[in-house]
Amino acid sequence: MDIAGLGYCVIGATAPRRWIDFGEQLAGFAAEERNGAVLLRMDERAARMLVLPAATDHYHASGWELRSRRAFEAAKEELAAKGVPFEQATAADCDLRSVGDMICLLDPAGNRHELFHGPTLAPTPFRSPAGVERFVTGPLGMGHVVLPAPNIDETRDFLHDVLGFDVSDYMTHRPHGADGPGMRIDFLHCDNPRHHSLALFEGEVPAGCVHLMVELPTLDEVGRAHDRMERTGARLMATLGRHSNDHMVSFYLATPGGFALEYGFGGLQVDWTTHSAFEFTTVSEWGHDFSIGFGADERARLAAVA
Ligand SMILES: [Fe+2]
Repeated sequence: MDIAGLGYCVIGATAPRRWIDFGEQLAGFAAEERNGAVLLRMDERAARMLVLPAATDHYHASGWELRSRRAFEAAKEELAAKGVPFEQATAADCDLRSVGDMICLLDPAGNRHELFHGPTLAPTPFRSPAGVERFVTGPLGMGHVVLPAPNIDETRDFLHDVLGFDVSDYMTHRPHGADGPGMRIDFLHCDNPRHHSLALFEGEVPAGCVHLMVELPTLDEVGRAHDRMERTGARLMATLGRHSNDHMVSFYLATPGGFALEYGFGGLQVDWTTHSAFEFTTVSEWGHDFSIGFGADERARLAAVA
């Protein structure tokens, strides 16, 4: 199947309203409350992030977009033919996500993936309470997400063979030196030029997500968010830097969800017809000091996760 991009994400929260403050004052998302849930907008769509009341703060699901009802139905037929179990969403679940139809399934690492088509556009133009001009979405999707996968080979093969993702590049992080144990990170793309819409990290992450990335059209927008972070006292998780593989200039913020938000500019767009997947060996060309926000153990595990 040809997944168009990361359409939305679903987050569980002990106090969903904390995401309103985070979204409006820091990230620049527009928030709306609906029946105890919080919807966050980044563009013309009614919801790019859905925050649902939950017993724990965690990343709940990734919403992957099919471009039409026909493509959505074909995806369901493909899953059935391959014997992959999936669950049909209720009308209420689709309404909350502002999509026409949706199914959900789990990958071998237990990450929840939702396939959908027919997003609803909001009746009013996007206006960021923080004055962000716009986010880079459209055909590239809303950004990328890095998910835990201790069984990374099995999970990557499932995402490739069942959902149609392909490997952009990969690295093995060895925090204890060249002879120490390695932790793999695989960067995967779908049917758009964004360098990766999904990455897998070979480790356990209690919040269900290492980080979520949103992209801005200018470096100035990233700098203004950095100012807002300092003004509001929000927690920096990694300093400004440029990643080696997707060339993103970004910094990382703590979210109320127990995972980080990468706020970036200038992500690489790739022509997949001429691209060869490669292994790379340094996380960043400069910057990205993860010791700022992650503890010693976390730092060792996560420093390599672009
Ligand atoms: Fe990232």
